Amino acid sequence: MRNRRKPFPEKVVTADEAIKVINNGDHVVFAHAACVPQEIPAAMIHHKERFEDVKIYHMLCLGQGEYLAEGLEHHFRHITNFVGGNSRKAIAEDRADFIPCFFFEVPYLFRSQQIKVDVAVIQVTPPDFFGNCSFGLSCDYTKPAAKEARIVIAEMNENLPFVGGDNYIHISEIDYIVQCANALPEITSAKIGDVERAIGRYCAELIENGSTLQLGIGAIPDAVLMSLTDKKDLGIHTEMFTDGVVDLYEKGIINGSRKTLHKDKLVATFLMGSKRLYDFVDDNPMVELYPVDYVNNPLTIMKNERMVSINSCIEVDLMGQVASETIGAKQFSGVGGQVDYVRGAMLSPGGKSIMAMPSTAAKGTVSRIVPFLAHGAAVTTSRNDVDYVVTEYGIAHLKGKTLKERVKSLIAIAHPDFREELERMYNEKCKM
Ligand code: COA
Repeated sequence: MRNRRKPFPEKVVTADEAIKVINNGDHVVFAHAACVPQEIPAAMIHHKERFEDVKIYHMLCLGQGEYLAEGLEHHFRHITNFVGGNSRKAIAEDRADFIPCFFFEVPYLFRSQQIKVDVAVIQVTPPDFFGNCSFGLSCDYTKPAAKEARIVIAEMNENLPFVGGDNYIHISEIDYIVQCANALPEITSAKIGDVERAIGRYCAELIENGSTLQLGIGAIPDAVLMSLTDKKDLGIHTEMFTDGVVDLYEKGIINGSRKTLHKDKLVATFLMGSKRLYDFVDDNPMVELYPVDYVNNPLTIMKNERMVSINSCIEVDLMGQVASETIGAKQFSGVGGQVDYVRGAMLSPGGKSIMAMPSTAAKGTVSRIVPFLAHGAAVTTSRNDVDYVVTEYGIAHLKGKTLKERVKSLIAIAHPDFREELERMYNEKCKM
């Protein structure tokens, strides 16, 4: 049905023509994650001499991220609230800028012009019979940016899955269309070892039948999903999901039948995985994407009873303060939706929030349970918000526990090689 209506021909331009509307000093928002635009950034780089101080807001930048290359920063200045493999070097070298904020706040920052949106560069599917294009795999801040922008440039990609929810833009709201048939970035499954499997099993102990889950990406979320094969009636309300959710949906373990919000549906704000995931979500009425200020808003999340959030972190101190986005003073990632879901899950009747991490990092040389967070580290989830912490050695339940109880239960799930040292440090340096 979606190809029965042709795009308005007068809107179709080449990428070289489209970029003429971008002025020096403009704030341009690029679509997120797997919907990273490809044609427009390539044209902008090709004609870089035309551009000076164009600010590009772009959260998770997948693909090569060519506009972040050294030497281009006077033409294009990347601004983000999440650091990934492509942008870490540019942030560390002060060629790009980081804004600390919760993911669910980003559309508000656009609306209040605290982050300006002059031009939104989005990716869409060809329109359906009624002229509605789908934002495909990224609704998140991408749809809100298109609503706020002075000019909307859309790469209309034939290969983008058509995904529903509140995930459409009418063709009349698009100013320029660049037609393309680009391959989508794919994420390969993470390697799961004994440590992740053990963490998965402990997390599974905390997940009761009928729970609604938030999971991220990587080895730990995948290991958790693999440990849920004896559960029933699970639901998904999450920032993003990937291929592991498809496995459990096809087995009937995830069916959303006991969800108390968007019953039966798999709800997210963006999607990232392999072609298998992209085929699964294409035209699938059970999958719905909504803007991030709705999906990740703790006041929305809490409407899911038995909500369980599962996130990971860099280190946890003995009070339960969680650093998830910095290694020392270095920005490694961002808060993403971690705190949105920690808080939403705690407000949900029967909800739980889990911080799951291997007990050590850097090939076993450092403990992730520490007496004090590293010098310069940012607290992501505060000691007042933290609930469960899980490592391959067990579960520490911190909510409602005294500082002394927290110390005891955190040391009990630290790697055995570090327990004595943690005790000693606590007795010498941390005791009040
Ligand atoms: N000290 C020193 N180095 C550390 C460390 C520590 N305490 N913790 C991690 N590292 C190193 C690791 O050794 C690894 O380096 P390597 O690749 O050279 O071995 C690197 O940092 C990445 O750590 P790892 O644990 O493998 O990362 P991950 O890919 O599992 O991601 C987070 C973990 C915490 C970075 C990630 O979950 C995150 O960004 N969380 C915040 C956002 C969020 O929660 N979003 C959820 C909503 S979807």
